[in-house]
Amino acid sequence: MTKTTMSVIKADVGSIAGHTVVHPALEEVAVKVLDEARKDGKILDFHVTHCGDDLELIMTHTKGVDSEEVHGTAWKAFEDATTTAKNLGLYGAGQDILKEAFSGNIRGMGPGIAEIEFTERKGECIEVFMMDKTEPGAFNLPVFKIFADPFNTAGLVVDPKGHAGYIFEVWDIFEHKRVKMSCPEEMYSLLALIGAKSRYVIKRVFPKEGHMPVDEPLAAVSTEKLAFIAGEYVGKDDPAAIIRSQSGLPATGEVLEAFSFPHLVSGWMRGSHNGPLMPVGIEDAICTRFDGPPRVAGLGFNIKDAKLVGPVDLFCDPAFDLARQKALEIADYMRRHGPFEPHRLPLSDMEYTTLPKVLKKLEDRFEDIG
Ligand code: 13P
Ligand code: 13P
Ligand code: MG
Ligand code: MG
Repeated sequence: MTKTTMSVIKADVGSIAGHTVVHPALEEVAVKVLDEARKDGKILDFHVTHCGDDLELIMTHTKGVDSEEVHGTAWKAFEDATTTAKNLGLYGAGQDILKEAFSGNIRGMGPGIAEIEFTERKGECIEVFMMDKTEPGAFNLPVFKIFADPFNTAGLVVDPKGHAGYIFEVWDIFEHKRVKMSCPEEMYSLLALIGAKSRYVIKRVFPKEGHMPVDEPLAAVSTEKLAFIAGEYVGKDDPAAIIRSQSGLPATGEVLEAFSFPHLVSGWMRGSHNGPLMPVGIEDAICTRFDGPPRVAGLGFNIKDAKLVGPVDLFCDPAFDLARQKALEIADYMRRHGPFEPHRLPLSDMEYTTLPKVLKKLEDRFEDIG
């Protein structure tokens, strides 16, 4: 049976009046490019959207992960959107387009990528989550809760198919190494790593032996670090993730429950501050207060024969109002710290920002204490 692939590829190629929101003209350009690609048989279906200033391309096809045609399509969409952004004089036009020429794969060129190839189930439910003003490690806590925390996911306890637990693939993004950990047996070791979310990030989650193919991921997170490519701060790495749900996997409601706690993530203003992650509908994915607070938006689809059905805008539910209210209270509380840590990130995380330039200017002023 032919497998289906979902590819979510995203980039910030410019926004209006700062890092606020994608201009609709950029989405129109992307729709045009992806529509052409669909007619040419490069992809089978797509949905274009945004989260804050990040242009998000959700594509389905049967070409597997790392397909040159699919990545090339995304690259063309970002290039054309960059041209439009420049013509409109948008802020940060081409921000995440860090390399010149496409040569087969979009990895390492600036955009973020989350891709999963899988065998379609009957009633294949899949959710796409998009974050703005934060980093890939922001997914660690919710993805852990979804697939390993019985207080979040009832299915881990009461569903025989979920009872065995799941396998987490964690990347050390500093050392370019990875490790697989099995939950619940290795839960404490897993947490020892992923609690340090700026370095250890959950890349994928796999099923254990049982009702699903063990080599097909159930979740995938984009882990690209822009600063490692550009050598300096050019924007946060605003990640995206794909998570499959239902029929023996965590239910969609269990997946969403993990976002009902607005946990602290790093990013926000100048990529230099900790703040709460606020779940919002696409319409409210506009980061304005102190360039934030950081947002997560989610779209739910069904997939049939590699075609998208939907989406439903998952956080457009008053049941998330309290999470949003709490996020606003936390935002206020954190802001009161101004330039002080832990609102501002620790020095080690400020390495790629403009702060080291300020500290350098002060170097000569220091004298030995003796
Ligand atoms: P983005 O990463 O969303 O472009 O935001 C950058 C920034 O510096 C916000 O203050
Ligand atoms: P300027 O370079 O326009 O001052 O913006 C800083 C910023 O937004 C960091 O991303
Ligand atoms: Mg930006
Ligand atoms: Mg952004």
